[in-house]
Amino acid sequence: MKYEDVTYDWLNRVEAKLDRVLPAASCAPARLHEAMRYSVLGGGKRIRPVLVYATGAALGVPPERLDGPAAAIELMHAFSLIHDDLPAMDNDDLRRGKPTAHKAFDEATAILAADALQPLAFQVLATDASMACEPNVRLKIIEELAAACGSTGMTGGQSIDLSAEGKRLNAAELENMYNLKTGRLLKVSVLAAVYSADLQHPQLDAMTRFIDAVGLAFQIKDDILDIEGATETIGKQQGSDIERDKATWPALFGIEVAREKTEELLAAALAEISSMGAPADPLRQVARFIVNREM
Ligand code: IPE
Ligand code: IPE
Ligand code: MG
Ligand code: MG
Ligand code: MG
Repeated sequence: MKYEDVTYDWLNRVEAKLDRVLPAASCAPARLHEAMRYSVLGGGKRIRPVLVYATGAALGVPPERLDGPAAAIELMHAFSLIHDDLPAMDNDDLRRGKPTAHKAFDEATAILAADALQPLAFQVLATDASMACEPNVRLKIIEELAAACGSTGMTGGQSIDLSAEGKRLNAAELENMYNLKTGRLLKVSVLAAVYSADLQHPQLDAMTRFIDAVGLAFQIKDDILDIEGATETIGKQQGSDIERDKATWPALFGIEVAREKTEELLAAALAEISSMGAPADPLRQVARFIVNREM
């Protein structure tokens, strides 16, 4: 499956939006802005923005109204990646096929670039005119993104991930950690588009179950690729998890069990949106891509 076949013009859309909302590299303090742009632009699968647009397509929300949420969520994701790679965390040197931010710049600049990406995401959500939505919709998306990234969301999940190094978690503990560190931000990608359609959308619960399953599959697949993927294709150092004795699905239960789990989750996710007809096809394709990808 080629990624271009499931992303339509969405990669270009979000790239252009990110370029517009990030301060120019010439703008002072230049080195900080350079590090922010380096970490966000020209790389990554943009799977979260693609999920925003694909959900919008399924529910009849035009992409022009979703550029703000798509860009804001990607900014938060980029912040999480910069911190994830720091020596104090996963200590990785390669990200998106390039040196990690703290390698390309320095640790302090990387930390500050991530710090600045986070409020920029909220600034975009608070001010973006193209969202053309009621204030309560905007506020709901801001609330969801904040909750998804805080201490009971992604940041909390990252904390659990670090303290689980060298430990044997059970399936429920592992699932909780994956849900927090990865699932929650993926979930906002879908919910932002659902809320843009209708705060009380009839598909809200089904879409939530869909992305919960896809989110878990996404992180298990990430762990499988860390073992089986090629460094050039994944753009990250293969074997990084084993090197740090990370608690991962394939490490604890075996790679075949992990693969079967992603297939089960994909089937469960697709069943949740089976009644949504042809407009949900892009969303189905993205879900299949997440489980079958090599990047
Ligand atoms: C990597 O996310 C971090 C995880 C949550 C597993 P992605 O695989 O989406 O990374 P990019 O954005 O494509 O680089
Ligand atoms: C990352 O999990 C989760 C984040 C919140 C960034 P990983 O540590 O497995 O992500 P990669 O493999 O470095 O992208
Ligand atoms: Mg990590
Ligand atoms: Mg990592
Ligand atoms: Mg990983």
